[in-house]
Amino acid sequence: METKIYQVEDLNADMLDKADVYGDAAARQAVDAARAAVGRAAGILRGGGLVAFPTETVYGLGADAFNEAAVRKVYAAKGRPQDNPMIVHIARASDVGALTSALSPDMVKLIECFWPGSLTLIVKKRADVPAAVTGGLDTVAVRMPDDPVAAELIRQAGTPVAAPSANLSGKPSPTKAAHVIRDLGGRIDVILAGGECRVGIESTVLDLSGETPVILRPGAVTADQIADILGKEVETDPALLRRDVPDGLTGADAAAAPKAPGMKYRHYAPNAEMLVLEGRRDRVKNEILRLKALNEKLGRRVGTMLFEEKSFTEAAHGFFSELRDLDDAGTDLILAGALSENDGLGFAVMNRMMKAAGYNIIKV
Ligand code: TXA
Ligand code: MG
Repeated sequence: METKIYQVEDLNADMLDKADVYGDAAARQAVDAARAAVGRAAGILRGGGLVAFPTETVYGLGADAFNEAAVRKVYAAKGRPQDNPMIVHIARASDVGALTSALSPDMVKLIECFWPGSLTLIVKKRADVPAAVTGGLDTVAVRMPDDPVAAELIRQAGTPVAAPSANLSGKPSPTKAAHVIRDLGGRIDVILAGGECRVGIESTVLDLSGETPVILRPGAVTADQIADILGKEVETDPALLRRDVPDGLTGADAAAAPKAPGMKYRHYAPNAEMLVLEGRRDRVKNEILRLKALNEKLGRRVGTMLFEEKSFTEAAHGFFSELRDLDDAGTDLILAGALSENDGLGFAVMNRMMKAAGYNIIKV
C-alpha cells in the first residue's frame, strides 16, 4: 500500500497565533495549506481508511470509531492483539455523549479541568460503541487531545476517532513523524507529519467506571492533581507499583495483572538488553560508567540513559525517542539510571523504563 505523507507542521499554536491574532499573511497561507491537507486525511478517515496523526502525548493511528472494519484494520497494521482496547479521541468535550450516557459529576469536573489534555477516562460505554474498539469490554476509553492537528482531523472527520499509539506493536511509542514513517510506512493510508510531541509519553488512563477512581496507566496528569480536583482519594492499580512483574502473566500471578489490558503486553521493547540501575545518584553514575567500560572491553556496544535529576519533563519528552536512537545505533546493552518516584511524571517515566527493561532492575 502506498502511504501518503502530508506535512502539517505549520498547524501549531504559534502559527495560529500569527495568522489569527496578528494577521500575518504568510502564516495564514501556511496554516490554511496544512488545514487543507488535514481535510484530505479526514476524508480518508471517513471513507474507512487509516490515518496517523500527532497528539501532544505520542502519535496515534486513527480509524473511524464507528466503522468496525476500519477499526479491525488498525490491529492488523500494528500487529496488535485484538483484545487490547483503543482510546477514542474527540474534538469537543460535548462529543463525549456519543460514547457514554453515564456522565458522572466526577467526569464533568475532570473534563472541565484537564481537557483538552493528556487524561484518558474509562467510562461505561453506550451500546452502539463497537466491541472492536473496546476489546469486548462494557467500558470505553475517551480522550480529547491538546494538539491543533489532532483536533482539526477529528473535527473535519465528523466522527470520534479510535486510535492506539502509532507504533508497531512492541516498539517504543512514536514521538516524531519519522518514527511513524519507519514503523507504519506502506501499511496505512496517510501519515500527518507534524512536529515532535510535546509530552512524549502516553496519556494518564483513569478508570471512572467503579466506586473509586483508579489510575491504570500513569502519565503527565498525576494522581495528586486528580485527587485535588475530585476532593477524594484516587487509587493506583497495584500492578503499577510492583517491581518484579514480567509482562504476560499467567496462573496465580494473573491476579496482580494490570487492569488496563494493554499494560500486560511486553511494551516499548528496545532490541538491546536493558538494565535499570537504582540508588543514590552518585553511585548510579559510577556503576553505569563501570559497567559500560566492562562491557565495552567485551566488545559490546553500550548506550546510557541518565536524565538530569528532577527534570522529569525532559525525561518524558526524550525517553521513547532515545530508546529508538539507541536501537538505530546498534546498541547491545542500555544502562539507564532510575528516576526518583516522588513526582508523578517521574513515576510515569519509570513505569515505561521498567517495562522497556523487562523489569531488569538492580539496586546499587
Ligand atoms: O496518549 C495516548 O493515550 C495515546 C494517544 C494516541 O492518544 N494513545 C495510546 O493508546 O497510548 P494505546 O492503545 O497505546 O494505549 C491505550 C491504553 C492501553 O493500555 C489499553 O489497554 C487501555 O488504554 N484501555 C483502553 N480502553 C480501555 C478500557 N475500556 N478499560 C481499561 N483500559 C483500557
Ligand atoms: Mg501503545
